[in-house]
Amino acid sequence: MFKKVLVFVIIGAFILGLGLAGCGKQADSPDGQASEEVKELIIGSDTAFAPFEYQDEKSQEYVGFDMDLIEAIGQQMGYEVNVQGMPFDGLIPGLEAGSIDAVISAMTITEERAKKVNFSKPYYKSGLTIVVKSDNTTIKSFEDLEGKKIAVQIGTTGSNTAKTIKDAEIREFNTAPEAFLELKAGGVDAVINDKPVNDYYITQMGGKDGKTVGEPLTAEDYGIATAKKNTELAQMIDNALEELRSNGEYAKIYEKWFGKEQ
Ligand code: ARG
Repeated sequence: MFKKVLVFVIIGAFILGLGLAGCGKQADSPDGQASEEVKELIIGSDTAFAPFEYQDEKSQEYVGFDMDLIEAIGQQMGYEVNVQGMPFDGLIPGLEAGSIDAVISAMTITEERAKKVNFSKPYYKSGLTIVVKSDNTTIKSFEDLEGKKIAVQIGTTGSNTAKTIKDAEIREFNTAPEAFLELKAGGVDAVINDKPVNDYYITQMGGKDGKTVGEPLTAEDYGIATAKKNTELAQMIDNALEELRSNGEYAKIYEKWFGKEQ
């Protein structure tokens, strides 16, 4: 009799153990793999896109609106955040290959991209604008770009929009700063890129290297991307984002980089 009870106890403990191990698995790692280490999120970002993500000259650390936001999201979820700098057009392939857990990179939510990855709820409203040299008097709107030379960052919505312009010569660069440099050097007539980044660049340069012309060309929303199959992490990020919006943390971060939210 005693033996029988003992067998049941052992089997029971075994089943319970399995169950607990299963829970641990899910809680420990966003990709469902068990791990004993600190819970960590590997975040991919193209970190040359101020004021969203860029390297602080002194500390060499990645700073910006996106960096503060993802740090706060990680904290909310109980994860440490580890940002890996990588080329913008390598971010979605990185998610697909599983080398990163999520992407925050001022990435616009597009139908095309949403076929390959999950996007969080929108976290920032943006759009594209045109930047020309300060002394340019011939380009005043999108229509004036016909047949012109235009610099863009490779793989971006700015690049897609530029490609719709009749007879334009599109020069694609790996980073946005390189596109601005080309404008400054006189190699192109205009840059098409995200408005907040253009505005930041123009202000940073004291208005002498460029100016915005015309109205915004698009209305775009930024989202945090995760691998298609990792719906659990996508949900955790959305929950954290919602919490940061309701507890005022999002507003604080927004205000730090852009001033009061309108
Ligand atoms: N919002 C644009 C896009 O999604 C440009 C983003 C570029 N981001 C960056 N970190 N370089 O295509």
